[in-house]
This record gives sequence, structure tokens and C-alpha cells, in this order.
Amino acid sequence: MQGASQFAKQQSRFVGSGSARDNLYGRFESRLVERGDLSRRLVSYQANKTQPGLRWFKYKEGFSRHLVREALTACPGAVLDPFAGIGTTALVAAGQGRRATGIEIMPIGTRAARAISWVANQPNPDAFKRAASRLLRALDDRLEPTDENLFPHVPITRHAFTEETEAAIAKARAFLRRMRSDELRLVLDVACMSVLEDASFTRKDGQYLRWDNRCGRKLRGRMNKGPIPSYRGALERRLAEIVADFPALRHQYGGGTPSIAEGSALVELPKLPDASMNLTITSPPYANRYDYTRTYALELAWLGYDRAAFGDLRQALISATVENRSKGQQLERRYARQDVLAQANAAVASQEALAEVLDALTASRTELSNPHVIRLVANYFAEMAVVVAELARVTRPGGYVVMVNDNVQYHGEEVPVDVILSAIAEDCGFVCEEIGVLPRGKGNASQQMGRFGRRELRKCVYRWRMAERRHRG
Ligand SMILES: C[S@@+](CC[C@H](N)C(=O)[O-])C[C@H]1O[C@@H](n2cnc3c(N)ncnc32)[C@H](O)[C@@H]1O
Repeated sequence: MQGASQFAKQQSRFVGSGSARDNLYGRFESRLVERGDLSRRLVSYQANKTQPGLRWFKYKEGFSRHLVREALTACPGAVLDPFAGIGTTALVAAGQGRRATGIEIMPIGTRAARAISWVANQPNPDAFKRAASRLLRALDDRLEPTDENLFPHVPITRHAFTEETEAAIAKARAFLRRMRSDELRLVLDVACMSVLEDASFTRKDGQYLRWDNRCGRKLRGRMNKGPIPSYRGALERRLAEIVADFPALRHQYGGGTPSIAEGSALVELPKLPDASMNLTITSPPYANRYDYTRTYALELAWLGYDRAAFGDLRQALISATVENRSKGQQLERRYARQDVLAQANAAVASQEALAEVLDALTASRTELSNPHVIRLVANYFAEMAVVVAELARVTRPGGYVVMVNDNVQYHGEEVPVDVILSAIAEDCGFVCEEIGVLPRGKGNASQQMGRFGRRELRKCVYRWRMAERRHRG
């Protein structure tokens, strides 16, 4: 581990020129610690690619089960993840016999998590094997699929599949409709959904859904994803993988069933009782313009999301895109815990470093690639402050929050998400014990690189402890 002061000296050149950010940085300097043991692999999906269950669905925004196992050692007791994704935290914690609660807004994640958990708690795979064989036989059926079973495309998914794949998908959907067991249907549905990308002309790539130039759409870029498997072939492999994973899942996650709520953290967190959690291990969306509804367009359409539902989901996600509008009025009118909201608003209002970033961006408004990044940054912190204030409410004295997040940069202005969120956390009653920094930060977005040069943006794991005696706002 590198000494804090040496690290601080190196890092200070990454800080923007503004003094409020420098001051805030100075406040947290001794707690910003480069952690050689934190690798990119540990905090990303990479390591899950070979993990039973977690490998079924390429949820690239996930973190590794190894990180969760490590973080669980912070303290015993009930575990929460308000941005549960594919359920990594909740599955690992429940597997260790802990009370585990996940909240996730994307139905893709909640369904995958529930499917993994169901398999993990099954004594044997026979019923699943039989259902999987029947599904594959249904795909070999010569009957033409009926319209009601066709893939329910939305404009951004059209041309994703060949006709042959469309027909196979429709047969799978018809089969799933006829199934009687909800549990088996869920696991097969997740399997069918998980191979849509493989069998399509699309690829989830970085922040985008890229299109293969054979798809028949008018495209600007040229991408060829190589051989595309048949839907049946991809599905058969996935089903075999699921069968193979039964024993390992039972061993790893069979110790209990997590509670996974599907909905926004801004709606579900207020439902949790005060001081009911010992430990939160989470990774919120980053303030980096990433749009989950675009990357997961195929899967959301599979689940029946139409254009309006896509729009509603995008607006309900924590603001991280230029399309997100403020949730301020809505929260003011309907938020279930107005005292928590008031505390969050006060914490945000006192963040001088945030005000400095917003002023700097506003001053360069006409030069920004998209002026809505200003509201993106403002809304991101407004909403994350509510989440942090809720975490303060639900965390028992002495309990912990472990959070993975990235700093971002717009128009050359560093947004030090780590220290701003940690300051908000301290306003809400946490003590920021450490901001563990990954040895190599992330470069800024490529469009900004030429103009502003390459800068290292910190990728961190924060550790906040709830004070023994809480002082609320
Ligand atoms: C960085 S990912 C977390 C992935 C997770 N750690 C895992 O291992 O799969 C952030 C997650 O937050 C979810 N999210 C975004 N806005 C949300 C909201 N308002 N409420 C709950 N979840 C939300 C996203 O759908 C995404 O799955």
C-alpha cells in the first residue's frame, strides 16, 4: 500500500484548478489511499465471466463476487444493495446465511438474480433438465409461429435478428407462455433472454449497443462481430451451462434466498425500517452518461417494454444521462420520508465543490458537447444524496457502507464524485474511513482526450462507517 501523503502529492495534479475542490480534497487527503489489492478485475464484471450463475448473463456493470466476499468481512449481520444489478451482493450474502436485501430497477437484473437464487436452492436439476429439453424440442417444431409470439420490437431493436432467429425466438416465447411452473419458466426465460445478444447483429460494447454492418440498417460505423450463432445453438449451450452450474450454485449461494425488490431505490429504500442493516455493499450508476436502457434494449423489449415504458424507465434511473430530467419536484411532492429528503437537500446545498463544478460548467455552457451535462451532474448528486441519507437512516450504529464508484470529467472539469459523496455521507452521520483508490484510474472519455489531454480519473471503493451515536442533519 502506498503512503497516503505520497499518493496525495501525485494525485493533486488531477484535481481541477478550483479552490473548493482543492479544499475538499485536502479534507479527505489522508483517507484517499491507493490500494494495490484493488484491481479493475475485482471491481468489474470480468472475474464473473467464469463464475457459476453470474456467467449466464453478461451484466457488464456488475462487480465481482470476490469483492463482495472481501467486503462482507467488514461486519456481521444484515446486508443491503440498493443498486443490486444481477444480485452479486445479495446472492453472496444470502449464500453465507445472512439476511440479504437487494433493490434493482432493471427487471433484467432482478430476474437473473432470482433465477440464480432459485437454482442455488434446488436439491436436484432433473425437473429443469426435462423442461430445458422440451424447450429445445419446441424450437425444432415446423409450425409457423403466431404473431402474438413474435419478438416485440421497438424502433431501437429492429433488424437485430435474421428471419430464422426471429422464428426461433417466437417458438421459444410460445413455449414459455404455455409453461405451468412459474419458477422453471423464470429460469428458462432468463436463459432465452441471455442469448439474445449472442444471436443478434448487436454487441454491448463499452457504453453503446453497437450494430454489425450485416444488419440491414443504415450505419455510420463498420463493425463485424464475426460468426453469429443460431439462436437454438446459443440457447442449447446456455441451458447446458445452467445444468452444469447446479452443484456449484448450491454450494455457493444455497445458504438462503435474498429478498430482491424490483423498483427504484428512491421508492424502495424509504420502505426499509430505521437501523435495520449492518452493511451495504453497492455500486451505483456512475455519472458518466451511460444509458442502461440503450445497452439492454433487446432484453427490455423481450420483457415487453414498449417505447413509453423505455422512456419511463430511463427517467426513473438515477440521473446519469443527458436525457434525464430533474426528479426534484416529484420527490418534493411524493417522497415518502420528507425529513430524509430535507437532510439530503441540505447536504447537497452545502457542497461548495459541487457548486464550483456546476459554475465552471455553466460558464462554458456554449462550448459543452451537450449542455445537459450540467443538469446531469446536478441531478446525479441530488438523487445520490437522497440514497446516502437513506443509507444513513437504515444503517445501524457501527455498520458500514462499501461503495464502488468512478469520478468523471466534463469539458476538462473534474467532478470528484468520491470526495463530494463522502462529504455528503459525513453530513448524514457517516464517518468516511477510507476512499480506496484503484492503482490505475480511468482515462477521460475519448472525445475529451484530444482537447484536454489524458487525465487519470479515480476509480474508488469508499468505506463509510455509521457513527456509534448518529447525529442527523
Ligand atoms: C453499477 S450497476 C451495479 C451492478 C451490481 N453491483 C452487480 O454486481 O450486478 C448499477 C445498477 O443500478 C441500477 N439502477 C439505476 N438507477 C436505479 C434506481 N433508481 N434504483 C435502483 N437501481 C437503479 C442499474 O440498473 C444498475 O443495475
